[in-house]
Amino acid sequence: MSFFADKIIDWYKENKRDLPWRDTKDPYKIWISEIILQQTRVVQGYDYYCRFMTHFPDVNTLAHASEDEVMKCWQGLGYYSRARNLHTAAKMIAEKGCFPTTYEEVRALKGVGDYTAAAICSFAYDLPYSVVDGNVYRVLSRWMGVEDPIDTGAGKKLFASLADEMMDKSRPALYNQAIMDFGALQCVPSSPSCLFCPLADSCVALQKNLVDKLPRKERKTKVLDRYFSYIYVRAGVYTYIKKRAAGDIWQNLYEFPLIETPGEVGEEAILGLPEFHHLLGGHDIQSFRMVSPEIKHVLSHRVIHAKCYEVVLAEENVTLPGFQRIQIDDFHNFPVSRLISRFFSLLLKPNHKKQNHVIE
Ligand code: ADE
Repeated sequence: MSFFADKIIDWYKENKRDLPWRDTKDPYKIWISEIILQQTRVVQGYDYYCRFMTHFPDVNTLAHASEDEVMKCWQGLGYYSRARNLHTAAKMIAEKGCFPTTYEEVRALKGVGDYTAAAICSFAYDLPYSVVDGNVYRVLSRWMGVEDPIDTGAGKKLFASLADEMMDKSRPALYNQAIMDFGALQCVPSSPSCLFCPLADSCVALQKNLVDKLPRKERKTKVLDRYFSYIYVRAGVYTYIKKRAAGDIWQNLYEFPLIETPGEVGEEAILGLPEFHHLLGGHDIQSFRMVSPEIKHVLSHRVIHAKCYEVVLAEENVTLPGFQRIQIDDFHNFPVSRLISRFFSLLLKPNHKKQNHVIE
């Protein structure tokens, strides 16, 4: 048995977090937890996992739910394609009649990559597949002093084979949980407490003073700026929303009418845009106000510079082509991005009313 795996597992037995998806061998629960925990911290993922399990306790319930129900439960977690893929995969599993039991079948599920397949197969079935997530990259690159970048094809291959080599194949579930928790709690990204680390004596990065340089990445993520002006339109007790289309952020989530511009536009400029008048279909405007000045909403590869305006129409019985007319009281039933949810709370605040100005 390896020195590394023993140390990691001993540390884990002393320091492990008590998490609900660790008390089970049910592949459905493990799958859901792993998809939620991709790109999400455990503290935030915990509540979502509990909520998801209450709404969809088994794969059949998830498979038979509507997409809006699934998205509503996911609302606020981000990376919404994860929820759509979960739903599609649940339908595949329900049709087949049982959860897949081999690595190849699990890996073939929509939205399941190498990491998730290894996690499900090791945690649920104790199959000897090593997980390689951000925590594992960090622990291995530091302890072994590997300076190869982790974001290239060659680097990924190298780390996959190192992870395989280091794993304790007699205890895959225990070892994989242990190395991930070790990375999440002990070998943390910045200022780890190396003084109290059980692997300090054998850690190459610590000896070479490379702890804060590893793991290395070759590429910097490019960030794209986008400028969104949302127009919340109110006609009596009604408002107007639209489901976002495929091929862009927030696919299938609902939002208020949106005008996207190549750069920032101010309040006056919005009123002069042909798109603004086009979306209102020439209906008379009773009042117009800015609900929120720019909010910077940061996503992984984008910064959305978003503003929100409220338009009150003079007439109540109005349809806007391309938009769904809903009662404002029903708004909370639709899955929306965190940004829209934030704007909606601002809209409900009474002090905003003071800024109204009437359009002649
Ligand atoms: N992050 C991803 N998967 C995890 C797990 N099973 N336990 C703790 N943190 C995780």
